[in-house]
Amino acid sequence: MVQTVLTVEKNEKIAKDVFRMTLSGDASAITAPGQFVNLKIDGFFLRRPISVCDRTDGVITLVYKTVGDGTRALAALAPGAEIDTLCGLGNGYRLDRSGDAPLLIGGGVGTPPLFWLCRELIGEGKTPTVALGFNSADEVILEDDFRALGARTLVSTVDGSRGVKGFVTDAVAGVVCSYFYACGPLPMLKAVYGAVEADGEFSFEERMGCGFGACMGCSVMTRSGPVRICREGPVLRKADLIW
Ligand SMILES: Cc1cc2nc3c(=O)[nH]c(=O)nc-3n(C[C@H](O)[C@H](O)[C@H](O)COP(=O)(O)OP(=O)(O)OC[C@H]3O[C@@H](n4cnc5c(N)ncnc54)[C@H](O)[C@@H]3O)c2cc1C
Ligand code: FES
Repeated sequence: MVQTVLTVEKNEKIAKDVFRMTLSGDASAITAPGQFVNLKIDGFFLRRPISVCDRTDGVITLVYKTVGDGTRALAALAPGAEIDTLCGLGNGYRLDRSGDAPLLIGGGVGTPPLFWLCRELIGEGKTPTVALGFNSADEVILEDDFRALGARTLVSTVDGSRGVKGFVTDAVAGVVCSYFYACGPLPMLKAVYGAVEADGEFSFEERMGCGFGACMGCSVMTRSGPVRICREGPVLRKADLIW
């Protein structure tokens, strides 16, 4: 983990209540898709954890939803603003387990960390299928970005206003995969656990205190004992979960 100051390059609305922020600076401590950063927002004691959506030379991309005062303050930041950032937190996804035809399943703002993962998998010559689930068409994010990468991209909405009507598990019914990666709200993750037979891993967005392993506030019980989502996670393997 490295504490650094990053500069806002862009901060734009991309869907209902969802923003894409690009930050420049030394983010070299971020080494794997699935890792997250912890942002110090002026006026708030606790940092706000946000997954890394993408990382290219000198620039990281975050996609976040405004759900409370902290993320609303984040959305108000203009280009040039500086953010005290803890970089390189968490374990990240295991690309070596993907097999040739991995399935990436995202729900709502659980989809951003899958983007960099998808780009890396395609770079390794894999053919990922991406399934993105939302409540309605006005919440759909990153669909065009995943398509532009060349991934087979499926979209579902609960109200049927875009793609398959229903949950993301309806969109992946019948999809055969070598391994899966899932990120989204807990009910979605539990549905994926029951619906997808293949081995895989889940990325959790648990409420956090310190974000770097000191307070135990994010601990969950696994088959190998208690783990801290911020330190041993946020990515946990299917076989380790007690569900
Ligand atoms: C590892 C990780 C990765 C995340 N990645 C993303 C992402 O890529 N995009 C995105 O939109 N959101 C992401 N979240 C959720 C995001 O951290 C919260 O939505 C955000 O902290 C809410 O802050 P707030 O002040 O607006 O809300 P408030 O509800 O006012 O926050 C109060 C406190 O609760 C915490 N909190 C509230 N909701 C959550 C939540 N769902 N998960 C964790 N902590 C929460 C806040 O950090 C803060 O400490 C991630 C969470 C974690 C743990
Ligand atoms: S948030 Fe403090 S140990 Fe994980």
